[in-house]
Amino acid sequence: MSAAAKPSSAVQVAELRRMREAGEKIAALTCYDASFAYLEDRAGVDVILVGDSLGMVIQGRNTTTAVTVADIAYHTRMVAPFLQRAFLVADLPFLSFATRERALDASQRVMQEGGAKMVKLEGGREQADIVEYLSVRGVPVCAHLGLQPQLIHKVGAFKVQGRESVAAEAMLRDAKILEEAGADLIVLECIPSSLGKRITEQAHIPVIGIGAGPDVSGQILVLQDILNISPTVTMGHKPRFVKNFMEGADGIEAAIRAYVQAVKTGKYPAPEHCFQ
Ligand code: KIV
Repeated sequence: MSAAAKPSSAVQVAELRRMREAGEKIAALTCYDASFAYLEDRAGVDVILVGDSLGMVIQGRNTTTAVTVADIAYHTRMVAPFLQRAFLVADLPFLSFATRERALDASQRVMQEGGAKMVKLEGGREQADIVEYLSVRGVPVCAHLGLQPQLIHKVGAFKVQGRESVAAEAMLRDAKILEEAGADLIVLECIPSSLGKRITEQAHIPVIGIGAGPDVSGQILVLQDILNISPTVTMGHKPRFVKNFMEGADGIEAAIRAYVQAVKTGKYPAPEHCFQ
């Protein structure tokens, strides 16, 4: 179905804001291909992200840094035609938003070639200029704070962020600055639940968590993680926030529906998926 033919019930930025205001939890999930796009949309996922996690779960690498704009544009193009309702976000991969011009080019590719409706980029206040540059040109932006997997070669390991009060205060400030710069959505990865709650309370835009506790506007997970088939999980490195929704489900679509239901009803995340 072409974008022009999509029903008016398709989720837009305004609907995500409404859900936040109404306290309706937003269920988000990653996706990289047509088959799963169809199932996720049908199962009621509100936001679908073509994440650079595809470097790990599709390309089998250890990190996300090798993922290119062409990879994201390709996978976004595989997903977009199968979404009738879900809102499609595409990641800007490592270094693709290092300058304003590169960020605009990358956004143009994933939106025009891929069909994304928003781009996501990792980083704090140092990205405010880029966020504003994109936002005033009509590119909706999702900021990504907390654990930033694209920094892996600089920081050395994936670990919980914002535990110390100086780091927590800095992240609160980053969220405010990025919102003021024009971000329409924030993703918070791997932070204490109390910090997820504070950032969500101070923000005026929806905040989606992955390992950020229950008191955020919604949750996002990697598709292969909830289906218990991602290389990291099957090799025994299961992040604390990952839950296997295949357990007790009668197939893949049922597992995705169970995830959506668990997010909507607040059953996921449970305390064992959260950080103190
Ligand atoms: O790339 C990705 O899948 C992500 C999510 C984990 C939020 O950034």
